[in-house]
Amino acid sequence: MTLITVVGSGRVGTSAALQIAMRELGDIVLIDIVQGLPQGEALDLNHACATLDLDVDVKGSNDYRDMAGSDVVVVTAGLVRKPDMTRLDLLFKNSEIISSVAKQVKEHAPKSKVIVVTNPLDVMTYVAYKTTGFESRRVMGFSGLLDIGRFRHIIRSRLGVSYKSIRSMVLGEHGDSMVLLPSRTYIGVEPLSRFMDEKTIAESVEATRKAGAEVIKLKGWSAHHAPGAGAALMVSAIVRDEKAVIPTSAYLEGQYGERDIYAVVPCVLGAGGVEKIIELSLSEEELRKFKESVKVLREAVAQLKL
Ligand code: LAC
Repeated sequence: MTLITVVGSGRVGTSAALQIAMRELGDIVLIDIVQGLPQGEALDLNHACATLDLDVDVKGSNDYRDMAGSDVVVVTAGLVRKPDMTRLDLLFKNSEIISSVAKQVKEHAPKSKVIVVTNPLDVMTYVAYKTTGFESRRVMGFSGLLDIGRFRHIIRSRLGVSYKSIRSMVLGEHGDSMVLLPSRTYIGVEPLSRFMDEKTIAESVEATRKAGAEVIKLKGWSAHHAPGAGAALMVSAIVRDEKAVIPTSAYLEGQYGERDIYAVVPCVLGAGGVEKIIELSLSEEELRKFKESVKVLREAVAQLKL
């Protein structure tokens, strides 16, 4: 049986666990340092599985040794953004947390693929890569599906077409400098620009960029339903060897002219993890924005002195 560990049993971790269970992707271990919390969440999730006839086992634990044999480890541990914080404010605190979790992953699940969900996303993924020492294809960051999900939501509400017919792509930082690609956004097989004028597209891109902060402002804490759903899709792509094209924070080794940095790019995800990074031929303007976004990430990584 496939084993999936979720580290962190807060809102994002438990949401990811539920979404993974709903797809019956494997048995789940929920790990958290808070006594009783992962055990209680696991019991509740097992009851949800029983209710829905989902034949998976969820185990809660405070002991990292219980991740032994995991095929995939989803890392959600860390502090979340408060209304007045940027993702980069979380940098120092969460990098300590991620590096200590990554050491445990290295020791107890040395063959796993690692999906980092903790913010600031791309930088935390870099920390996990450096600390585990795993091949880069086994360490990746989740965020792209969240950002294009938000863009697709806006497009659907404006155009009234099914999500199934809206495809899109995003690059760069999961943050204010993210580069959404309207040029790679399709309604059915036609480009978005055939259905929306330039101004509306620009407004939709801007609303997408601010959507995470909007969620925080309204409900008082950061998003968890959408992140949980998206992380589960990445787990699915790996454990089911789907070869799905998913915007993923991946380690660049010359692609898009960048190296030794994590940034969101389209990737083929399968049993090997990030099996391929797809290099889009970008317009000059898109490439310039991508480079600016990578610069933001480099500055954040530099502050960590890894
Ligand atoms: C978001 C934050 C949590 O995008 O990164 O919702």
